[in-house]
Amino acid sequence: MGADKGIARGLTNYGDRDFALYLRRSFARSMGLSRQMLDKPIVGIAMTPSDFNNCHRTMDELVEAVSRGVLAAGALPRAFPTTSLGEVFLNPTSMVYRNLMAMDTEEMVRAQPMDAVVLIGGCDKTVPAQLMGAASADIPAVQLVTGPMMTGRHRGERLGACTDCRRFWAKYRAGEVDDEEIATVESRLATTAGSCAVMGTASTMAIIAEVLGMSLPGTAAIPAVHADRLVAAETAGTVAAGFVEAPIRPSEIITPHAVENALRVLMAVSGSTNAVVHLAAVAGRRGIRIDAERLNAISDETPVLVDLKPVGAGYMEDFYAAGGVGAVLRELRPLLHLDTIDVTGRTLAERLDEPFDFVDRAVIRPFADPVSAEGGLIALGGNLAPSGAIFKRAAATPALFETEGRAVVFESLEDLAKRIDDPDLDIEADDIMVLQNAGPIAAGMPEAGYLPIPKRLARQGVKDIVRISDARMSGTAFGTIVLHIAPEAAVGGPLAAVRTGDRIRLSVREKSIDLLVPEAEIAARLVTHRSPEAPKRGYRALYAARVSQAPEGCDFDFLTMEGASDL
Ligand code: FES
Ligand code: MG
Repeated sequence: MGADKGIARGLTNYGDRDFALYLRRSFARSMGLSRQMLDKPIVGIAMTPSDFNNCHRTMDELVEAVSRGVLAAGALPRAFPTTSLGEVFLNPTSMVYRNLMAMDTEEMVRAQPMDAVVLIGGCDKTVPAQLMGAASADIPAVQLVTGPMMTGRHRGERLGACTDCRRFWAKYRAGEVDDEEIATVESRLATTAGSCAVMGTASTMAIIAEVLGMSLPGTAAIPAVHADRLVAAETAGTVAAGFVEAPIRPSEIITPHAVENALRVLMAVSGSTNAVVHLAAVAGRRGIRIDAERLNAISDETPVLVDLKPVGAGYMEDFYAAGGVGAVLRELRPLLHLDTIDVTGRTLAERLDEPFDFVDRAVIRPFADPVSAEGGLIALGGNLAPSGAIFKRAAATPALFETEGRAVVFESLEDLAKRIDDPDLDIEADDIMVLQNAGPIAAGMPEAGYLPIPKRLARQGVKDIVRISDARMSGTAFGTIVLHIAPEAAVGGPLAAVRTGDRIRLSVREKSIDLLVPEAEIAARLVTHRSPEAPKRGYRALYAARVSQAPEGCDFDFLTMEGASDL
């Protein structure tokens, strides 16, 4: 009987079905729910409010709007909390806790009696964590994002978190901005609720969620404070309630074709490097592996169409006004797999056949007039990165694309912090800065790959220098920076063998990063390599013991799905 469906699914763990139902109804009664309500199917709402997560400030009103949609469609909404990850408030890095949130989400969705779920996230790691959890739980799910911030104003220009944060801090360090102005800027960078206002990781993951089909069409870029955001939340509730009669599971949505579409749009929007790791983790939950050669082929044939910071000029509010993901998908149509479906059950072909007004061609360019002819991100090989590395060519300095230089090595994050601003640091602008032991196992893979320009060089006016590491960088950062080198130094990847004074060659043309030292010498150095000591207790011990390398998404090895199908 349909009326019992919601509660019945959760009762399968119990020997005495009738007794369990009776017991659950008794306890639900204590929450003030009538029998009429308890007979309805249930839509869970995974909510993530936190006073340590500014990006989720609107959670209450979003939950209310989702609940309204669920109720109107005849189901009972039940909101429940999971881990919330506020990017800037977590130590040592939010990345470490993405898998914790993914496990929390998966287990709570599976353990509690719900027929479908709406997942509400927004800040960098929360959307990938929810997608990973939903993909594994495989209960019908809709992803809803909190949406991006609006920009602030300062002396005639717009400010948005957090590319402009870095820009003003660099000016402050260089003495171009004084104490008073930096304090004013501080109060104008993040002035509304929502996630970062540029094409950083949060925006990129919101777009990926929509392209995968896990979010409602047209909703990725709606600003957090816009009325459309609440309408989207209400509709998410309605769609989730509809799953009771016509379920669509994440496994039907997150297919190899959907992942490939997501990868293509990631290139076209010139998205965050972090999204490559997160998409690999989400895909890995469905047994789909992103192959580096496929990634490069997609990058080489997909133009950058979106002109947003950190690489370009605009902000997410402009992207939304210009038509958002729907506009990008229409331009890319000939390159996309049109047989994928989204949470509404429609195919991408059906979505794109609908009439559409192109509003602003400056922010989302036509295919024939792109921002650049090739995608923003590529994977690198070479003897320093046998399992791969990531390079954001769109955010790098073309004059440094073919560089051979002397390595200046920092052995750890502590070593970097200690010596980077030493006035006697032996480094020149044509050297290559190397950071070791900042990978997933050694350090939880923090956003340390954006090594600061040493003070001595910054004062000489040096704006960019080749930097390489096994770390990540913020999606809002830029520079000629090789990231995610795998295997990481801590597990004896060749990165561990680099010594100050060695020669290193970066070739973007050949998509390679090489240590110009004879292979026998590299092997000899690695024999004496010592891994840093791993944490011994708690979650950090589990993390260090079971986290995979970047190409596998830094997921736990026991959470990925076996039987990989390569893109
Ligand atoms: Fe949450 Fe940037 S701090 S998205
Ligand atoms: Mg970020």
